[in-house]
Amino acid sequence: MKIGSPREVFPGESRVAMTPDSAKQLQKLGYECAIESGAGLAAGFSDAVYADAGVEVLGSAEELYAASDVIAKVRPPEEAEISLLTPDKTLISFFYPASNEALMEAAKEKGASVIAMDMVPRISRAQKMDALSSMANIAGYRAVIEAGNNFGRFFTGQVTAAGKVPPAKVLIVGAGVAGLAAIGTSTSLGAITYAFDVRPEVAEQIESMGAEFVYLEFDEEQTDGAATGGYAAPSSPEFREAQLAKFREMAPEMDIVITTALIPNRDAPVLWTKDMVEMMKPGSVIVDLAAERGGNCELTVKDEKIVTDNGVTIIGYTDFPSRMAAQSSTLYATNVRHMMTDLTPEKDGAVNHNMEDDVIRGATITHAGEITFPPPPPKIQAIAAKPKPTVVELTPEEKRAKELEEFKAQTKRQVTLLTIGGALLLGVGLVAPASFMQHFIVFVLSIFVGFQVIWNVSHALHTPLMAITNAISSIIIVGALMQIGSGSFLVILLAALSIFMAGINIFGGFLVTRRMLAMFQKS
Ligand code: NAI
Repeated sequence: MKIGSPREVFPGESRVAMTPDSAKQLQKLGYECAIESGAGLAAGFSDAVYADAGVEVLGSAEELYAASDVIAKVRPPEEAEISLLTPDKTLISFFYPASNEALMEAAKEKGASVIAMDMVPRISRAQKMDALSSMANIAGYRAVIEAGNNFGRFFTGQVTAAGKVPPAKVLIVGAGVAGLAAIGTSTSLGAITYAFDVRPEVAEQIESMGAEFVYLEFDEEQTDGAATGGYAAPSSPEFREAQLAKFREMAPEMDIVITTALIPNRDAPVLWTKDMVEMMKPGSVIVDLAAERGGNCELTVKDEKIVTDNGVTIIGYTDFPSRMAAQSSTLYATNVRHMMTDLTPEKDGAVNHNMEDDVIRGATITHAGEITFPPPPPKIQAIAAKPKPTVVELTPEEKRAKELEEFKAQTKRQVTLLTIGGALLLGVGLVAPASFMQHFIVFVLSIFVGFQVIWNVSHALHTPLMAITNAISSIIIVGALMQIGSGSFLVILLAALSIFMAGINIFGGFLVTRRMLAMFQKS
């Protein structure tokens, strides 16, 4: 079978669905590859480079559609492109079926199979085909670059001979794929970065990337807009008000605001209102990634860059991935290639459209003359919904009584333990010689202190903890070496055992550290 990629007809679209590299991989699956002449030019891939990779270069879209069994493209097809499909052909592209019903109907009439790359379920196995994430990642990066291009100052703070430069303050609203990419880019450029999301579980991700999570003082602990499956649900009016109040407080301070907030299948929520824009300093920049869906900023104009009366630049471009066509084509072509790998389990150059496969089923919107959209929910959830714990509201008196009860029980436990420990020590003290007791007390105390210290160390500090245990191990070895010449068989045996066990700790620690370091080394 032959896979072909036409030139994108959408005005200004520079991406291409097949790169010379992806073509080589597709050939390994047993396919022949073809491209419409000039299809990759805007992304930096000339016809000659394709030809070198063994790709047939065809003169027109008509020729390409006629020759190919599988047509891979980027943008949803235009009507003219749908008319070139036949029942034996498979089209792979972004499609947005929920808002392109007429096109879907037309594809069904043609009898062709259509795989919508935007419908790939967000489950772990399908991550390599998740073209939406690939594109959102690029959009998040590019949003920061675009903001920097329109911002008159450095991102990072500097102390120069010519004066001190304060760092830029950047706020990212929405920490999905695009938002996290924007956070990463902004912090690596040195800006002080703040981020907000309605899903509290992303706070850790935001903070691990060096940004500050903006917490809301809200009764329901910022869980209002959170939902299952890794996506947000619409917020309640009260939550939205609390969120807007926080943003109003931050607006005069922020130099750059990048908004990426999105709720699936809805218009983008308006989160950066006109009065917030008016509060911002002249020269500030807003990049609204949600412009396609109406925008998160009230003043955004889709596909345009405007400057407000108070000197704030608002960017509403919707083609960020296309603005980085070489990168986005490479990632998109790889996503398509992985989809083809799943469609070709035998690697025999023939499509096996297995509708039992969760990923293929989820992405297929027309097949065998039928519309197969919307798909049934995937058997595996992206992020399993946590069952909500049933919380019983207690009155303040009940709470106090409960706390008192817990305190009494804890005290009782501690007193019992101390009594048993004291009795044991007394027992040993009565029979053992004084010299033994001196060592024994140190031994008991070190067990107690060691237990208290190690038990309370959080997971994040386990690496420094390992260093401390290595230090303790070396003290044990020194002690054992001092005792080993004592002459008593029992002491020699105990000393040898301690050296052996401390050795395991030290060398094991080194081995684990080596493995950890290898994970961060570039091959
Ligand atoms: P996503 O679904 O992964 O992330 C959206 C995030 O917004 C989620 O984390 C969600 O919890 C959060 N959110 C929802 N409501 C919120 C609220 N009220 N306040 C704060 N956060 C809220 O989406 P992804 O893939 O990161 O895309 C983000 C946006 O970027 C989308 O609007 C998408 O269409 C757009 N996009 C734009 C491109 C362009 O060229 N302009 C290219 C690619 C994506």
